[in-house]
Amino acid sequence: MYEEAVELAKRRGFFWPSFSIYGGFAGFYDYGPLGVLLKDNIVKIWKEAYMDDDAIFLDSPNVTPEPVFRASGHLARFSDLAAECDHCHSKFKLESVLSFNKIKYIPSSLKEAEDLVADNNLKCPVCGNIIKKVYDFNLMYRVSGDYYLRPETAQGIFVNFKLLSNYNRGKIPMIVGQQGKGYRNEISPRQSLIRLREFNQCEIEVFLDPEHLEFRELYDFKKIRMKPNTGEELNISIREAYNKGIISNQAFAYFVLKTQVILERIGISNEKLRFRQHEPDERAHYAADSWDAEGLIDDEWFEIVGIANRTDFDLKNHEQSSGEQMRIKIDGRDVMPYVIEPSYGIDRILLTLISQSMENKDGKNVLRIPYYMAPYHMAVFPLMKKDNLKERASEIYSKLKNLDKYILYDESGTIGKRYARQDEVGTPFCITVDYQTLEDNTVTLRNRDTAEQERINIDDLLHDNFIKNLLEK
Ligand code: GAP
Repeated sequence: MYEEAVELAKRRGFFWPSFSIYGGFAGFYDYGPLGVLLKDNIVKIWKEAYMDDDAIFLDSPNVTPEPVFRASGHLARFSDLAAECDHCHSKFKLESVLSFNKIKYIPSSLKEAEDLVADNNLKCPVCGNIIKKVYDFNLMYRVSGDYYLRPETAQGIFVNFKLLSNYNRGKIPMIVGQQGKGYRNEISPRQSLIRLREFNQCEIEVFLDPEHLEFRELYDFKKIRMKPNTGEELNISIREAYNKGIISNQAFAYFVLKTQVILERIGISNEKLRFRQHEPDERAHYAADSWDAEGLIDDEWFEIVGIANRTDFDLKNHEQSSGEQMRIKIDGRDVMPYVIEPSYGIDRILLTLISQSMENKDGKNVLRIPYYMAPYHMAVFPLMKKDNLKERASEIYSKLKNLDKYILYDESGTIGKRYARQDEVGTPFCITVDYQTLEDNTVTLRNRDTAEQERINIDDLLHDNFIKNLLEK
């Protein structure tokens, strides 16, 4: 449903390519009115879930001075192998050229890439000419002078570690979250929100004592597809995976489990989710181990959350470069904490949610996202604009808005069309004010998923917890 989701997103105001009146620029997307609300709901679930584990949050600048990325290794190593065609001047990730030429091997250094290109007549996927030029392409945007746009929000947390730890009275484990934009000068942005040049991250850095890589107790949750880099894909719970040694430490297992629970709460289907461990040569320069949560859209898996064991890589490098002590005292020991990082890509999660939740039945779209995730929780319609129905509906709408902000009023078009419009954007409940309302103070309450309607009394509808309870069903 990827194509249908992208079409719906543009037509109904979830997201669309940015700057389209100037022809559009690859890798940039706007969120429209419904997308803004849906994105906020995803972030809210993430934030509240981590607050349950006593996370604290930070908001640091997007523009970052060079010394930060010199220390973090991004200046030297945050690059993709790229290829350019001398003939048509198209630029590609080397991986795409290799895949176009049916070569499975991925070189791990520029030297290997140069040898590969010299030994094979690799055709340009656009014009068919032979590709000769390969190079390392740093993915960071340089803004001016010695400043860069951050490629991840994480560094803001690492450079503030000492202040955050003081704030937190030196307690460890310490969980710090940051929500914000990341920027990468992707060589080939693609598939709408999948590979953007400016994207939304919700990152968590968990600081742990390296001698106690443990967090809260693991609990049983649903089985899932897990694909370790050492063997076959398994259908197993994360708890079992930890007990069998498939996941290296208890804290890492806890945050994989937490990610599974959060994604399911957001509405990502457990059947269309898997955790895949990176191959050693696939890991980012800072990671000792990485597992990606991947969501299935149609028949392709996409990374939506990256979970990495960053060890003390970042703190150690910032200590060396800045001279600021990053160690803390634990029971008399001088400790450089280890970090586990679940990093959520909000754009990819949103796209996966819409793609997985869209259903087309008899030519009509229904977006079956969880009720509490819907941009609007309820829509209020007068059956007709006449005979005082409009006034009564407006009055109910105003009262409902005092209880829940996410209520919509719509009086245009036939009632069938209004229901269809709301089904398509996931609004779980529609209230219709009709002639009977004027007689007995009842309205119809229609459910998005069953299309069934029941009559309810307006006083019940306006009861404090009525909507809240409906949304959690
Ligand atoms: N701090 C670690 C980090 O940034 P990552 O795996 O590179 O790790 C984390 O990114 C998540 O951010 C990914 O799982 C993905 O969902 C999202 N992401 C990364 N690059 C992206 C891009 N170019 N466009 C959209 N989302 C992206």
